[in-house]
Amino acid sequence: MSRVALVTGGSRGIGAAISKELKEKGYTVAATYAGNDEAASAFTAETGIKTYKWNVADYDSSKAGIAQVEADLGPVEVIVANAGITRDAPFHKMTPDQWKEVIDTNLTGVFNTIHPIWPGMRERKFGRIVVISSINGQKGQFAQVNYAATKAGDLGIVKSLAQEGARANITANAICPGYIGTDMVMAVPEKVRESIIAQIPAGRLGEPEEIARAVSFLVSDDAGFINGSTISANGAQFFV
Ligand code: CAA
Repeated sequence: MSRVALVTGGSRGIGAAISKELKEKGYTVAATYAGNDEAASAFTAETGIKTYKWNVADYDSSKAGIAQVEADLGPVEVIVANAGITRDAPFHKMTPDQWKEVIDTNLTGVFNTIHPIWPGMRERKFGRIVVISSINGQKGQFAQVNYAATKAGDLGIVKSLAQEGARANITANAICPGYIGTDMVMAVPEKVRESIIAQIPAGRLGEPEEIARAVSFLVSDDAGFINGSTISANGAQFFV
């Protein structure tokens, strides 16, 4: 029977590419989304991948949503915690709301996604978790004190979970995408985006599929000894 994979934020951007790649590799995929019903319906019509709507920032909604996915499809064996938002502003202009929204979604949202599934993974002695962090969690970024804090925090989550899950054959790894051609990056003012591309030795934005293929490897049986790692996929823009 095919493994069930949950991809948060899985109907758009990098998440959509991950959902499609995992489906192609034989997983039964559940893709979550927060608000864009139209994009989610179009995604399901195009791919046949089931979508579920809940806000990852809310623990009870996440728990209930995951229970529904498991009732429909079976136990979740693969988690891709991908859902994320930006609320960019220079720190002197950043509001407490902009801080909180990003923390709640990008950091607490990862907790809320993994925590309800974790006990089942421990019992079944199998699990694959990939958290989509960011180059900006590694290097920091002007106007992203909030976002960079969450993406650095996500790395702490996987390094700790890796140690807790290793004996139960659960791996937890992070991918740090660089600048990828998605709506999130396209929302950056054009002039700023041009200057960002100029800083990427590859001379281009990455493609969502380039992240999806890395996820596909990390969740495979072949990657069982890769645990707690951070994979950078950024066109040589930044090295740790
Ligand atoms: N480094 C240094 N200075 C910078 C800068 C940078 N990277 N970017 C902007 N500045 C400076 C500007 O030159 C300007 O300086 P002056 O006041 O001297 O002219 C000042 O900072 C900006 O002031 P503004 O009042 O114009 O700023 P604003 O309140 O309008 O905010 C902004 C503009 C939000 C910073 C906007 O420029 C922006 O969105 N920048 C992009 C931030 C970014 O890279 N976000 C990443 C999004 S993609 C993503 O997050 C995905 C991922 O994981 C990689």
